[in-house]
Amino acid sequence: MELKDLKEKRALVTGGTKGIGKAIADELAEAGATVIVTARTKPEQTAHHFIAADLTNANEVAALAKEIANTFGGIDILINNVGGLTTPGGGHSTLTDVHWNQELDLNLISAIRLDRIVLPQMIKQKSGVIIHISSIAGKQALWNLNMAYAVSKAALNSYSKALATELADKGVRVLTVAPGATRTETMVKFLNGYAISAGITPEEGIKQLMAQTGGIPMGRMAEPEEVAQLVHFLVSPSAAYLTGTIYAIDGGSLPVVG
Ligand SMILES: NC(=O)c1ccc[n+]([C@@H]2O[C@H](COP(=O)([O-])OP(=O)(O)OC[C@H]3O[C@@H](n4cnc5c(N)ncnc54)[C@H](OP(=O)(O)O)[C@@H]3O)[C@@H](O)[C@H]2O)c1
Repeated sequence: MELKDLKEKRALVTGGTKGIGKAIADELAEAGATVIVTARTKPEQTAHHFIAADLTNANEVAALAKEIANTFGGIDILINNVGGLTTPGGGHSTLTDVHWNQELDLNLISAIRLDRIVLPQMIKQKSGVIIHISSIAGKQALWNLNMAYAVSKAALNSYSKALATELADKGVRVLTVAPGATRTETMVKFLNGYAISAGITPEEGIKQLMAQTGGIPMGRMAEPEEVAQLVHFLVSPSAAYLTGTIYAIDGGSLPVVG
């Protein structure tokens, strides 16, 4: 990729203080972009512009958009990265309305709401790129582990495709990135918890979990920086003809074509 190919671009990375979001924020800044990150909690340190916002709260999203418009005049790149598995495993009978709404709010509605609020400015300037960070779970749900999360990511994939088609002739590209297991702090904590409850090591834990989907053929989790490099390519001028597509980055985990 060309050095500093995102010079003069303004990028907003939601959940850009930890894990995959932080790696994306660092990668885009390295490529020359002005990077704004959001999260609920201000990190002890960040190299980027930080604005606090809970993206499941409509008023806070509106305030975030206003602050960005006032300070930066808008954005060119939006990375909808906020999301995660927040509901218990155990299948349909353990999942209440509260669980379903919580997972949909965090993984689907937060992105839809933010897109809607930034899109008029992108359409007006006739350029922009939106990335939705989904998951391979959106293509393959594990009923006993992540049913509501997987369904919310599947809906995100479908929404992302529809939005891309709507905006294709308006200069705005929309793409989906679907990571497999990625070695973030949250993931490591989750695996440690799972391993302790199952009386096994975290390494055995990831093998056991991934075995349910056929394992990770490459034999390891992704590093957040590897996901960030894919995102960098997708938002760069080199990817000018890409829109409406979904990119799994999973070491070969998904056992299906497409
Ligand atoms: N890690 C994986 O293995 C994996 C695999 C597939 C897909 N993904 C997807 O990749 C994305 C990032 O995952 P990750 O593991 O990197 O997450 P992470 O390390 O847990 O980081 C989540 C980020 O989002 C922020 N955040 C969480 N809830 C928020 C809210 N309601 N409003 C605003 N900010 C919020 C967090 O900061 P605060 O807590 O301070 O708000 C943090 O900055 C998610 O969409 C996830 O579903 C991850």
